[in-house]
Amino acid sequence: MDTKKLRVNGKRLKSTLEEMAKIGATSGGGVQRLTLSDEDQKARDLFLNWLRELDLEIVVDEMGNIFGKRKGKNNRLSPVLSGSHIDSQPRGGRFDGILGVMGALEALRTIHENSIETQRPLMIVDWTNEEGTRFSPAMLGSGVWAGKLDRDWAYDRTDIHGKKFGEELIRIGYRGERKAKRWAVQAYYELHIEQGPILEKEGKNIGIPKGIVGIYWYDIYIEGKANQVGPTPMEGRNDALCTAAEMILKVNELPAKMGGNMVATVGKIQNYPNSRNIIPDRVDFTLDIRSWDDNLAIRGWKDLQKDFGRIAKRRGCPVRIEKTWSLKPTAFDEKLVKRVGKTSQELGYSIRPMLSGAGHDAAYLSQVAPTAMIFVPSIGGRSHVEVENTRREDCEAGANVLLHCLLQSAFEV
Ligand code: HGY
Ligand code: MN
Ligand code: MN
Repeated sequence: MDTKKLRVNGKRLKSTLEEMAKIGATSGGGVQRLTLSDEDQKARDLFLNWLRELDLEIVVDEMGNIFGKRKGKNNRLSPVLSGSHIDSQPRGGRFDGILGVMGALEALRTIHENSIETQRPLMIVDWTNEEGTRFSPAMLGSGVWAGKLDRDWAYDRTDIHGKKFGEELIRIGYRGERKAKRWAVQAYYELHIEQGPILEKEGKNIGIPKGIVGIYWYDIYIEGKANQVGPTPMEGRNDALCTAAEMILKVNELPAKMGGNMVATVGKIQNYPNSRNIIPDRVDFTLDIRSWDDNLAIRGWKDLQKDFGRIAKRRGCPVRIEKTWSLKPTAFDEKLVKRVGKTSQELGYSIRPMLSGAGHDAAYLSQVAPTAMIFVPSIGGRSHVEVENTRREDCEAGANVLLHCLLQSAFEV
């Protein structure tokens, strides 16, 4: 059949996204499906049911990554893979990650109902713990599968309540038997919302990222001296929270100081003992530095460390720094990036080459297989918030581009 005329069913895609958004729905219209939570489990169960309807060969690996495989004419050929993540941020959005999984599902449904036999097998995936918010770091499932992170180290990651990743995986029944070990992949495509303002501002339908910025995650621990807030003079205090406050402002000033294209953020902070009438004696906070220019990020971090040392010394509050995780800037496969652009235009969509400031599982996939992403606009450029939103027709456009990129790769021999 002439697959060129094929289009996804936008209404069905919309209703799967709405079905999923009911799981972990929050009062502000977003979702909360933290990795390996009960909500994540429920969404995984629903996803598995949908995969079974397409009689796919289903595998859950030891990291809880869920794969569905649709046979091709020649199953000795390496598969074409597409997916993203079902987990979300706390009070997160209804599109981040899940659009990539539901978009791939919609493409497979369209291929299935038109009984198209591709040369290569097609595979869909839900990667465990892309967000890295409950268990850091991010992209744990794809990182172990790609052979870049160690499985047992991942199992040992703990959340703020001391729950271990490996135990939670067993608790929700998604620690599969299959080793989380990569295999040859012909091409990996990930559909995702842009999570920024560019596409909407420029009125473009499809974003074509050339790659993903480098990401550096650190954990900063400050030690002060607790005391009664009343009788203790200001002079000579070792106030861990004031020390952190000075450091956090240095983080905020860093990108301008470095004069380059970089972002630096403190997103999470814990203050102890967190009592209004005790001088804080411990503060833990996280640091996220991102830039396409890796040298800039490294220089920026060195500069920041010097500032941290000076502040800690002046305030008599020792600081301990842990480098939690990092990902070098990732360039996607040029041939596939061109394909996404050409396919989008053939389908009548306007395109915008760009860079991804957000991390994605595609970062690890691109280290082991030809990889490209397809972005669709975020309304108001908002993401990781309950108001995160993308127009139905933009979701449909992204899924159509994904469908045709998958088919092109799946007929390559
Ligand atoms: O941090 C990120 O950009 C992604 O949401 N994990
Ligand atoms: Mn995401
Ligand atoms: Mn995210």
